Amino acid sequence: MAYLELQHLHTHFTKRSGSVLSPKTEVIRAVDGVDLSLQKGEILGLVGESGCGKSTLSRTVMQLIPATSGDVLMDGTSLTQQNARQIRSRRLDFQMIFQDPYASLNPRMTIFSTLEEALKQRHRKIGRRETQERIIALMETVGLDPAVMKKYPHEFSGGQRQRIAIARALAPEPRLILADESVSALDVSIQSQILNLLKKLRADLGLTMIFISHDLGVVRYIADNIAVMYKGKIVEYGESETVFHHPQDDYTKRLLASIPKLPAAC
Ligand SMILES: Nc1ncnc2c1ncn2[C@@H]1O[C@H](COP(=O)(O)OP(=O)(O)O)[C@@H](O)[C@H]1O
Ligand SMILES: [Mg+2]
Repeated sequence: MAYLELQHLHTHFTKRSGSVLSPKTEVIRAVDGVDLSLQKGEILGLVGESGCGKSTLSRTVMQLIPATSGDVLMDGTSLTQQNARQIRSRRLDFQMIFQDPYASLNPRMTIFSTLEEALKQRHRKIGRRETQERIIALMETVGLDPAVMKKYPHEFSGGQRQRIAIARALAPEPRLILADESVSALDVSIQSQILNLLKKLRADLGLTMIFISHDLGVVRYIADNIAVMYKGKIVEYGESETVFHHPQDDYTKRLLASIPKLPAAC
């Protein structure tokens, strides 16, 4: 049985347009019939140009937006049928890492407080000493020196902030990580450090991950399987290297052609 399964998933938005006298409604099919499945410990790369529906798909998986139709199954259990309380506890199992860690970290909270808050989502009654120990372990896991735990986000570089955001995502012990453009804002050299960290976390913690990017080159580096999304649909799916070397769909071929090539001298 698949660990996570998306079954004919649709998420549509209704947009009002036109004038007051002749109002029109337009349906945006952001996710338009997606079937995908992930095994435990798998990294699925979801790739496609901006606006194709990647973020909407991940928000629907997290139950932050209701699916218009279709289902999301985790270990065979439907997530779309759950009540509000069940969804809240399920959210801890699904953690997101976003593109801009500066915007997603509270500037007035130290790293310690940020991680403490995240830990307490899962372990409400955890004592001081254990909190401290877990925060040290989390910081070491993501390659940060625990000595800086009392610092604020602005005191860190972009790459370090993304490490903090990853530590925060790991704190509630999630079962699935959704990384949405989480290295897109970083310099290329920092990108590869963060990608290596995510790969290591998968190996060490057995994390299952949906890694979203508009950049097929980045996705290829980290993902076991790649799903190519275009206008709300998955137009190509397969093992990472196969999709990269033998794309079947014209859109995938165009995406591949758009990957910047490094000059030979580099
Ligand atoms: N809350 C929303 N209301 C209306 N339209 C939305 C909403 N969120 C996203 N969309 C639209 O859905 C489409 C897919 O957007 P998105 O999932 O953000 O794409 P991506 O993450 O691939 O860039 C876009 O046309 C976007 O404008
Ligand atoms: Mg997006």
